[in-house]
Order: sequence, then C-alpha cells, then structure tokens
Amino acid sequence: MRHLMSPLDFSVEELQNLLLLAGDIEKNPAKYAHACEGKKLATCFYEPSTRTRLSFEAAMLNLGGNVLGFHSADSSSAAKGESVSDTIRVISCYADICAIRHPKEGAALVASQKSKIPVINAGDGGHQHPTQTLTDLLTIYSLKGRLDNITIGLCGDLKFGRTVHSLINALIRYPNVKFVLISPEELKIPSYIREDVLMANHVDFVEMERLEDAIPDLDVLYMTRVQRERFFNEEDYIRLKDFYVLTQEKLNMAKEDMMVLHPLPRVNEISVEVDDDPRAAYFKQAQYGVYVRMALILTLLGITVE
Ligand code: CP
Repeated sequence: MRHLMSPLDFSVEELQNLLLLAGDIEKNPAKYAHACEGKKLATCFYEPSTRTRLSFEAAMLNLGGNVLGFHSADSSSAAKGESVSDTIRVISCYADICAIRHPKEGAALVASQKSKIPVINAGDGGHQHPTQTLTDLLTIYSLKGRLDNITIGLCGDLKFGRTVHSLINALIRYPNVKFVLISPEELKIPSYIREDVLMANHVDFVEMERLEDAIPDLDVLYMTRVQRERFFNEEDYIRLKDFYVLTQEKLNMAKEDMMVLHPLPRVNEISVEVDDDPRAAYFKQAQYGVYVRMALILTLLGITVE
C-alpha cells in the first residue's frame, strides 16, 4: 500500500507515468468512466478548501466511484476531541482511499501510519501540498511541453506557502531549472528549503524583492497568496498582503510565452484584468487538477485501464 505525503514519494519516472496517464484521461475521459466503480474516496478536510476537496471528489466521480467525508473540523468528531489517528482508523473501515487536509504539519503522515487505506496529503499546515504540485507539473508539462530548462519565478508568501515548498522539491529533480524567489524580507523561503534543498543540491537560485526586476527573464511566474491563516498577528498580514500585485502593465514586461500560474485562491495578487491575457493559465491549472487527481487515485489503488 502506498501513500502520498510529498512529491518526492514518486520517482521522476513514476511522476512522468502519472503525467502521461493524466494526459490520456484528459483526451479519453470515457475510457476511465467506470474504472473505480464500487470504490469510495473519503475527503477529510480539517481546513477550508474549494479546489482540492472538490477536484478530488470530481475526480472520483469521473472514475465512476463514490465520495464521502467532512469539510471542516467542526463538522467531524475532531470537535469532540477525536485524534487524527483514531479518525483514520475509522475511515479505513468506510472508504478505499482518503485525502486529508489539516492545519498541523505532519498530520497526514500521522494518519498514514495508522491507516489501512492509501492516504493522500491534501495540505498539511505550511509544510507540503503534493497534489497541488502534481497539478502544477501537469500544467507546465501540458502547456510548455517540458519540465526541464525553465526559469521559474515564485512570488509572494514563500515562507508559509506550502505549494511553493512542494513545487521546489519536485522541480529540482529536472535538469537546468532555475528558481527566482521573489518575496519581501519577512516572507522569504524557509532556511530548510534554501539550505537543505536548494543549496544542498547545488540548484541555481536567486532571491529578489522586486517583481519588475525578475519578470523579463521568466518562463513561468508562480504567484501566491499571502497566507493570512498562518500569521500570528493581523497587523503584519495587513502590511504585507498587497506587497505584490501582478497588473497588465507588469505583465507587459514579460516574455510573450511566459505562463502565469497561481494555486488559487487569489486575493489581490493578480489583477482581474490579467485574466484575459493568453499567458494567464491559473484557471486551466485548476482543470488540470482534476485529471492529475484521477491519475493519482488510479495509481494508488493499483487500477489499470487498458
Ligand atoms: N490550491 C488549493 O489548495 O486551493 P483550495 O485551498 O481551494 O483547496
């Protein structure tokens, strides 16, 4: 039995197979429409979500399976003090696979250690969000045709943004990927990513504060929201929340084929005028999230479709 806690749980070859499967699902959805008949996915979400929870549920429904779950800690017995370990033991009796989101780093790992079914980390605190990374990789691969030889700018809340941490971990395994880390001083990438991931692997990266200085050289710009829910103090959040706003004027400084990604939800960091620019790919990205989660469910359940 396999779980997914981090994008590194899959080798580069396994990731490639997953992306190819997702691509086939996109092209031939009918072929997969009954692949999970009789199977159940539990979505156990202790934190709010629109895309991750609903795209997991859409993925399982598209595969002919069923879904059950809860969408907040308050609507589960966590509100009565039940531990994640006990909850997953019970969920293992009801479902075949589980996606869990929790505000505490490591909660999904704890669940996986007590589970009798595959567990997918759907976001654990400020740590990792591996299925967002699968979505990001599929989007880049589908729209750019490659995951190597790219310069990617990661902009915004690099401290608390778990999607950024997971994406860096995944992309360092591809040749000639350069990272431009764009953030205010207080939201810089954590030292465990800078030192233990980037520097330890001799990855080409630079840290900058001004988006305008970085944008002309980028192949991909990955914007992120300032993570209000992870701040200790509201004043700091208010001071930093609009530090970056991608406007059409700034986007005009970018390459013609630069791609703008965002894991969403967006607050103010991308102006709505940018949505109509052909380089804005963040809503397509949300659609790719369904295909890649379908591929992931099939892979973890060991189901092959001929
Ligand atoms: N990208 C993402 O995780 O969105 P949700 O919080 O809506 O799931």
